[in-house]
Amino acid sequence: MAKQEDLFKNVVSHAKEYGFIFPSSEVYDGLSAVYDYAQNGVELKKNIREYWWKSMVQMNENIVGLDAAILMHPTTWKASGHVDAFNDPLIDNKDSKKRYRADVLIEDYAEKLNQKAQKEIEKARTRFGDAFNEQEFVTTNARVMEYKAKERQILERMGRSLGNNDLEDVKALIEELEIACPESGSRNWTDVKQFNLMFGTKLGASAENAMDLYLRPETAQGIFVNFLNVQKSGRMKVPFGIAQTGKAFRNEIVARQFIFRMREFEQMEMQFFVRPGEEMQWYEHWKTTRLNWHLSLGLGKENYRFHDHEKLAHYANAAADIEFNFPFGFKELEGIHSRTDFDLKAHEQYSGRKLQYFDPELNENYVPYVVETSVGLDRMFLAVFATSLKEETLEDGSTRTVLKLPAVLAPTKAAVLPLVKKDGLPEISRKIIEDLKWDFNVAYDEKDAVGRRYRRQDALGTPFCITVDHQTIEDQTVTIRHRDTMKQDRVKIADLKSIIENEVSMKNWLMKM
Ligand code: GAP
Repeated sequence: MAKQEDLFKNVVSHAKEYGFIFPSSEVYDGLSAVYDYAQNGVELKKNIREYWWKSMVQMNENIVGLDAAILMHPTTWKASGHVDAFNDPLIDNKDSKKRYRADVLIEDYAEKLNQKAQKEIEKARTRFGDAFNEQEFVTTNARVMEYKAKERQILERMGRSLGNNDLEDVKALIEELEIACPESGSRNWTDVKQFNLMFGTKLGASAENAMDLYLRPETAQGIFVNFLNVQKSGRMKVPFGIAQTGKAFRNEIVARQFIFRMREFEQMEMQFFVRPGEEMQWYEHWKTTRLNWHLSLGLGKENYRFHDHEKLAHYANAAADIEFNFPFGFKELEGIHSRTDFDLKAHEQYSGRKLQYFDPELNENYVPYVVETSVGLDRMFLAVFATSLKEETLEDGSTRTVLKLPAVLAPTKAAVLPLVKKDGLPEISRKIIEDLKWDFNVAYDEKDAVGRRYRRQDALGTPFCITVDHQTIEDQTVTIRHRDTMKQDRVKIADLKSIIENEVSMKNWLMKM
């Protein structure tokens, strides 16, 4: 555990030291759970967004984009259920005065049971070697079965109690499980209370006439209220999707774990409108498609798992998370929800306008059902960044810090380094940059010995270093160094573009889906 905590501390400090993420308004000691993306972070974030957009919008004829406003008519949030039901169940520890999400305390307890079961499985795997049959072991080993059954029981009971708004039972469960405050170790808890997560703001110049608004807590509602506008103006036929990326705001009470849980964050959401009755088939389709998108980045299949929801949000009839193995364990990265016709019907009811689709094949009008995919851009950033950050011991015993980002997402694709700052080498380097910068984000660096420059680019995640030396003047060749293998090849300047393109093009990466 201590090792994991150290790893996470390294992630946070590396992000700051190398210009990826700073605490917001740091000169005023920061603002809790709000962060700024710095010069390299903004590039990585943009590349993740583009990777998503390309796979969703550009590659699918029946999905189009949208950029709806953050501020929406306040009735939107009444209709969507957020005013009444977008709550977190909170509990305070009377001794430490710390506030927790009651469901998170219980989920963390359940996760420990899962980890215990996992430990037994790993022990058996080592003991039995190649003969090990995990499926059989999990269904016959008494200890594993007991851990798994207990985990299931706890999550099911919590799901039921939260679904029925039975907060007394949520507290009873915490007491029965003897969950202690992580800070004080005491079990002296208050009652569980619901807390609405939306940020309020006002529109209008004078206090009397001001209209109470909310900062949107999800981007999805901007899509729902525009459903018919897009369908009609784009002549879209069901099934079709609308995709959007943008900021969302939540007054998270337990905001921790760096950019995992923020108060201002960015979502990448897609609502897929389908015929009623076909939603489950599309739900399965999008679960698979979205997992494949994640896997295409090569961060390791073992780092992902599905978690089917016990406790369904007020709008869903099926929901699953794609969880990722963050430095603090498996947690939600993306949600895939079958949202039924809840949102469109609610907006019909509150606005008095029809939000229906005329299906020419069925010759009937209906309110489409919706399958949603929703991934946090900041969480994607954290997943990619934390998994890519490595400390390596080299053959000569020295160590290097390297950010092995998927090359397609790297902020800078290549750094051009003149071996020395004279003899015309900087001029040739600049010329190479002039050529490459039309296609790639490239950097120039002439400061320090070339070995140190390599290390700096490794730490920034730059996939290629191109070194210009005296031989370049003779034969128009350079060395190209690969970040991950540190292998160096001598290549023609004229070939640089295609070598880089081959490793960083979105097409090559997305084709792995
Ligand atoms: N429209 C559906 C929706 O908003 P959600 O599960 O509440 O569903 C979707 O959020 C995704 O947004 C999450 O899977 C997560 O990646 C991201 N997300 C949610 N709250 C967040 C927060 N406070 N900070 C960072 N990302 C967050």
